[in-house]
Amino acid sequence: MPEDPIHAENTLDWLLKLDPEADQALQIAALAHDIDRAVEAQKVRHADFSDYNAFKVAHAHNGARILRAILNKCGVSKSIAEEACRLVILHEVGGDPRSDLLKDADSISYFEVNLPWYYQREGREETIRRCNWGYRRLSARMKEVVKTVTHEDESITHLLKEVICEQNQHNYDVSG
Ligand SMILES: [Fe+2]
Repeated sequence: MPEDPIHAENTLDWLLKLDPEADQALQIAALAHDIDRAVEAQKVRHADFSDYNAFKVAHAHNGARILRAILNKCGVSKSIAEEACRLVILHEVGGDPRSDLLKDADSISYFEVNLPWYYQREGREETIRRCNWGYRRLSARMKEVVKTVTHEDESITHLLKEVICEQNQHNYDVSG
């Protein structure tokens, strides 16, 4: 996807903003977490999955497989390579402080970088679904940050605000 290189660097920028001390394994994982999409012949396709979360799990595992081969070839130490791949596997779901950090950097970057591209390619309905899914992934801290994200195309900014508003309304209704 044309936005992927920008998203990779932006995810690294966010990672370092959230944790300026982030180590090499985290930085590699931030840059490479979506590397699955870079290998056309091997990439996992959304259309092959009826369940979006199952698609994302397969995407993460395939990315780690590709990254492991590259890091081995580059002579990166085994411990750094294993940790970078572990983080790539977990980047969609988190589960520990380090993978949660990567998940947050990736999630906020979708809204900052990918959103207009996604809208162009996938249309309004699918973008709303993707934004809802992405919003639920954000930590409380990043839910505050996403409120400040704007885009040149005002209809996209408006769409994002609507998603945030509806999610907050839903959470309010659920919690009573
Ligand atoms: Fe990503």
